[in-house]
Amino acid sequence: MSQELLSLGQASQWASDYLDRPVTTSNISYLIQYAKIKKYLDEEKKIKIKLNELKKYYDEHLVKKEESWKSQLGDDLNWGLSFSNLRESDTTKHVHRLHPYKGKFIPQLVEYFLDSHLNDYKKQIFFKEGNTILDPFMGSGTTLVQSSELGLHSIGIDISDFNCMISRVKLDEYDIFKLSYTLKNILSQTINFSNKVFDDSFDLELKERLSDFNKKYFPNPEFKRKVHKGEIEEEEYGEEKLKQFLKENKKFFEKNGTKDKTILLDEKKMSSFLSKWFSKRVRQELFYYLKLIENEKDEKIKNIM
Ligand SMILES: C[S@@+](CC[C@H](N)C(=O)[O-])C[C@H]1O[C@@H](n2cnc3c(N)ncnc32)[C@H](O)[C@@H]1O
Repeated sequence: MSQELLSLGQASQWASDYLDRPVTTSNISYLIQYAKIKKYLDEEKKIKIKLNELKKYYDEHLVKKEESWKSQLGDDLNWGLSFSNLRESDTTKHVHRLHPYKGKFIPQLVEYFLDSHLNDYKKQIFFKEGNTILDPFMGSGTTLVQSSELGLHSIGIDISDFNCMISRVKLDEYDIFKLSYTLKNILSQTINFSNKVFDDSFDLELKERLSDFNKKYFPNPEFKRKVHKGEIEEEEYGEEKLKQFLKENKKFFEKNGTKDKTILLDEKKMSSFLSKWFSKRVRQELFYYLKLIENEKDEKIKNIM
């Protein structure tokens, strides 16, 4: 039984029953893609996974975690507050998805303390509709958004200008039609600019060359598994392969893909981060897009863009 091979559908069904929460086939595919579990192919070349390997993964990562905390905290542990039963789509519901801020609260945790339910652990209601809540470290504004959902007033403070901007964007009211029109407009202007300056065939060929190279030297998921086992030192290997790719394609890069150099933007003011990580075409598109945003008169729309 434990060596049983399961299809993705059967694995998602089994895992949902085992963990008592929905586990989708995409969740299982994610485990394969990131080399957390191995994939096998049956005679018809369909993907299969071993039940014992899947169970071992969940036992080590989820079930044992709960047991370990229980042994430390005993009956004081309210495991429900780990919200480990929630899917990523629940914890990033509506505006919480706007920015992937790593340090944010799980919104359901905030809701738990702000709303008016009581249970064996929560024996007191802390807020009533119309009250005001202050979050002096609001980060990306999770507390403020949840307060607004529950009809509470809120004030947020943060030392980081960027985090204040994320929170403002989530909490402001917008003229959706104007916003949608403005966004489409600057997007189409950026596409026109890019098409005028750059040659698509260069990008298509670069994509193909990169894809062939990656398939050869970074096969998925074998590469990640080797890194996981310590057989490959990822950073060193990556640097070496980058040099190899640039060397093998030196002639091709000399073409550089530019159709009309006369309207290229001056990149001197661009941050070194952009210059290091993005190709010339992407850098120029981003820079052009930023210029259009800077020209926007409506401050709210400018912020959300
Ligand atoms: C872990 S984050 C809070 C995340 C937030 N609960 C959320 O859900 O997005 C902590 C925040 O505290 C802010 N912070 C740190 N020191 C601060 C200070 N002295 N005054 C105001 N904010 C500060 C940081 O900029 C950061 O955004």
